[in-house]
Amino acid sequence: MTEAAIPGVVGSGTTAVAAVGAGAPAERANGAEREPLVGITDLVKYYPIHGGVMRRHVGDVRAVDGVTFDVKAGEILGLVGESGCGKSTLGKTLLQLLPATSGSVTLRGESVLDKKGNDLKRLRRKMQIVFQDPVSSLNPRMPVSDIIGEGLIAQADKENHWGDATVREKRVGDYLETVGLRRDYARRFPHEFSGGQRQRIGIARALVLEPDFIVCDEPVSALDVSIQSQILNLLLDLRRDFGLTYLFVAHNLSVVQYLSDRVGVMYLGKMVELGPVDQIYSAPKHPYTVALLSAGPVPDPRRRSKRLVLKGDVPSPAAPPSGCRFHTRCWLREQLGEPEECHTIEPEFRDLGDGHLVACHFSDKIGGETLKDAVASQEAFAPADAIDDDGETEDAELIAEANAHNIKA
Ligand SMILES: Nc1ncnc2c1ncn2[C@@H]1O[C@H](COP(=O)(O)OP(=O)(O)OP(=O)(O)O)[C@@H](O)[C@H]1O
Ligand code: SF4
Ligand SMILES: [Mg+2]
Repeated sequence: MTEAAIPGVVGSGTTAVAAVGAGAPAERANGAEREPLVGITDLVKYYPIHGGVMRRHVGDVRAVDGVTFDVKAGEILGLVGESGCGKSTLGKTLLQLLPATSGSVTLRGESVLDKKGNDLKRLRRKMQIVFQDPVSSLNPRMPVSDIIGEGLIAQADKENHWGDATVREKRVGDYLETVGLRRDYARRFPHEFSGGQRQRIGIARALVLEPDFIVCDEPVSALDVSIQSQILNLLLDLRRDFGLTYLFVAHNLSVVQYLSDRVGVMYLGKMVELGPVDQIYSAPKHPYTVALLSAGPVPDPRRRSKRLVLKGDVPSPAAPPSGCRFHTRCWLREQLGEPEECHTIEPEFRDLGDGHLVACHFSDKIGGETLKDAVASQEAFAPADAIDDDGETEDAELIAEANAHNIKA
């Protein structure tokens, strides 16, 4: 048996988890061919800001501001973007863990956000989340049996008999084994486990309810790099064995590339690009995606990379820029002589074909010359010798060079 090596994850290939020879890349299919499982339309989530002595409503943090996309049955949709762009808020809002400000979410065509009581409970069971931090997401005062069994009690009915302690105990043990833990661990408390084991418990808690869809919100970011690949391989195994669908939020672009069928890119509460993983990584069509991909670390310090460094800070989501939200930092806009529509008209999230969507008025201008000029204009930010003039400036080459670490072997 061979083990799946995950690019960008130290320790990959030395996992204790069963092989995933049939992991995501081999199973990858064009998302456009699949049925939508989860549909998100114009989803908005604002966090109110209160100020003054009277704690009056003085504004809103526009964490998610009109996001539309769907997640196809059986796919892994990767979600990337800078810290604070709204990834976690999006994940929690679509599961109704946070109340949406407006918009709609459907599961197999059935509306989620207007459900209450038993109807909401029934849908919740089908949509679960695995959190980033396995320490804070597990109640330290509860034994594992109660942590995993809690959801079973909440979802118990006459058919599943999950209210019966014996049935529940067996089920908890079964799912502990499914995630690679011993069934007698059910009696232990969270502090008796390693970080990786705790995350397995978090996965078992989600899985025990037989969901169709799981939001994985940076499930390995808080873990030691040496065990990240174990958890990632486990998630791939489970997807294959249980026919799961994931929205996979992560910062590690290599991991997202390896795992995902499609990738969505968020910037300041908006989805700016979405498409099949190969297209996003080899031919990004939004200037932000280009910059994000080129910002990753290059593992070999002798390797010289060409990078597009974004200028300025991320604007406040409480007062996002007019027009295109990215216009204050956009290298392409600068290249094009600062066209007016960038700061006056919000770009439509339009389909370029093959399900590749992008929100940029000038995405057709991303190519050889604009990329070359953008990189060259940033000599002040990059080591002078990082820019060469030997003609190796084709876009594919440029992006590949900048993202050498991200490209699958
Ligand atoms: N409970 C809250 N109250 C007010 N603002 C919040 C709250 N939670 C998040 N925010 C703000 O909403 C925006 C989006 O936050 P969110 O946590 O969704 O981003 P993220 O993309 O998941 O970031 P990270 O990659 O760091 O996890 C940020 O500006 C954040 O400060
Ligand atoms: S619309 Fe203008 S500012 Fe926005 S990404 Fe495109 S070129 Fe840049
Ligand atoms: Mg987050």
